[in-house]
Amino acid sequence: MRTTVRRATARRYLMCPPTYFKVTYSINPWMDPAKPVDLRLALAQWEDLRDRYRALGHTVAELEPRRDLPDMVYAANGATVVEGRILGARFAHAERTGEAVAHREWFHTHGYTDVREPEHINEGEGDFAVTSSWLLAGRGFRSSPLSHPEAQEFFGRPVIGLDLVDPRYYHLDTALCVLDDSTDTEVMYYPGAFSPGSRAVLERLFPDALIATEADAAALGLNAVSDGRHVLLPQAAVGLFEPLRQRGYEPIGMDLSELLKGGGSVKCCTQELRA
Ligand code: ARG
Repeated sequence: MRTTVRRATARRYLMCPPTYFKVTYSINPWMDPAKPVDLRLALAQWEDLRDRYRALGHTVAELEPRRDLPDMVYAANGATVVEGRILGARFAHAERTGEAVAHREWFHTHGYTDVREPEHINEGEGDFAVTSSWLLAGRGFRSSPLSHPEAQEFFGRPVIGLDLVDPRYYHLDTALCVLDDSTDTEVMYYPGAFSPGSRAVLERLFPDALIATEADAAALGLNAVSDGRHVLLPQAAVGLFEPLRQRGYEPIGMDLSELLKGGGSVKCCTQELRA
């Protein structure tokens, strides 16, 4: 059997160190304020991810963490960047509201001019995934269905709305990952996170998708980042490694156990700045 040769392309990422990371409130089923978090370990695991990106040739910019925003480490939620245009975030929960402002300020001070403050609730790349020509968009727990037409109008790309139905997979990026964004075909996802109609949509659009098992999804294995070849994902999602290799990808297991306590992993910590 011949496997496809996958090509990595250099990426720019925005991340925020978990300097003030804490689980003091619970806005998703993963968060238990009674469970202690090892902050030093969280920082070391996060640095490991950042350094791994850099070692692969990617650029990582860092956002200044804020003491009053303990979830800020989940930088993917702060905005969505496609072709240099920034759709800011508007959070569903008051605890995270300030993050949207911090992200927009970062873009303004880093030379980005096309920055939109959204009208409707959207949690950035938590619920928006980018393929070569589309935007896949989650709704049901966080982002408002009204954020989908707003994103379509702003980016001028077709938005495909997907209904999330399982509270453990409250953001699209916990249930689906785009593996090669130079195509509109290469994704992996967990069907159980989606409504029957959305599952049918995914089957139609992605007949060759890598389908994750419940166990790998529950390890947040789909909360992964791909550069087109290397796929960084939680190491506990062991069942995904071989199918990824068979498709020509190079899986790289990461341990982000402390950040899992906030309900996030590799992708949640990584916002992609698409030129
Ligand atoms: N504690 C955060 C929240 O519930 C985790 C966000 C995870 N981010 C993500 N992109 N799924 O909002």
